[in-house]
Amino acid sequence: MNILFYHPSFDANEWIEGMQTRLPQANIRQWVKGDNQKADYAMVWLPPYECLAGRKDLKGIFALGAGVDAILKQEHENPGTLPAGVPLMRLEDIGMALQMEEYAMAKVLYYFRRMDEYRQFQSQRQWKPLPANRHEDFVVGIMGAGALGQAVAKRLVEFGFHVRTWSRSEKQIDKVISYHGQEQLSDFLQGTRVIINLLPSTPQTVGILNQSLFSQLQQKAYIINLARGSHLIEQDLLVALESGQVAGASLDVFASEPLPQMHPFWTHPRVAITPHIAAITVPQEAMDMISDNIKRIESGQQPFGIVDMGRGY
Ligand code: NAP
Ligand code: GLV
Repeated sequence: MNILFYHPSFDANEWIEGMQTRLPQANIRQWVKGDNQKADYAMVWLPPYECLAGRKDLKGIFALGAGVDAILKQEHENPGTLPAGVPLMRLEDIGMALQMEEYAMAKVLYYFRRMDEYRQFQSQRQWKPLPANRHEDFVVGIMGAGALGQAVAKRLVEFGFHVRTWSRSEKQIDKVISYHGQEQLSDFLQGTRVIINLLPSTPQTVGILNQSLFSQLQQKAYIINLARGSHLIEQDLLVALESGQVAGASLDVFASEPLPQMHPFWTHPRVAITPHIAAITVPQEAMDMISDNIKRIESGQQPFGIVDMGRGY
């Protein structure tokens, strides 16, 4: 069995050695320009067109991330980047859900306990106790109830938060109110104080964090965007922060990454940014999932994490 590896920045040796340990019979190699030798599987992130194009023998392509929007965009712009009919699989949870839970909990607790306001008071040497927020007035709405959104929802419930999710299909999650579909979006937003975005970036979700959405939330809402920069209309957020409709935003992802040096988010007093690290790929767990999936395909079983190309996630 031949397996190709390509990633623009990951340490190829670590991945090739790790996969070799898991699949001792396999011949695993890093793809380099000009390599069109046989391959049964490919593990890739942002593969150049020549990496996979025309490979009719491939049995599976493993994306080395959870969100496949960038890879699907490559295919859209350069058809054939992903050979037709070959299943594309993404990383599902495998250590990312825990990281998302930690990030989301850190931010929600920070806002719930009014740390953003106390931080400001401190800078003005003000000793000023504020009334505590009540959970019932501080509803957290999670957009996307997939591998990551559901994990975050469950963790917030454990901490006593009132949690609701919004997804395409209806969900049953203990102690969580599930909304689904475009027709229930307004109901989901009304009464929500904190939005955590964990949607995939698709033509249906691009730009969804916009003025219309902000205006339906409770006053002094908080926006936590952990999914993709393409979801957010940045100018609308700046306006909503200015008007007070949005009290604060925590952003891990941006339309342009790295965030341009002159971008207003860098210095905005109520915007907290991190450099797309909310949940990073954990190599050992990712390799476990990929090798397990290869074994599943080889034995005729259904692999995990298949991307529905029509839906775009
Ligand atoms: P997932 O399991 O595919 O879940 C996606 C969720 O979004 C599902 O609940 C889906 O609904 C819902 N959804 C999709 N399109 C929708 C629409 N048009 N309307 C309403 N709901 C919609 O994905 P995941 O593994 O949780 O990951 C989510 C995203 O997180 C990824 O796509 C990626 O962009 C982002 N991410 C970011 C980082 C980071 O470090 N910042 C790390 C990893 C992932 P159904 O359940 O009904 O299908
Ligand atoms: C990171 O953003 C990922 O999609 O894995």
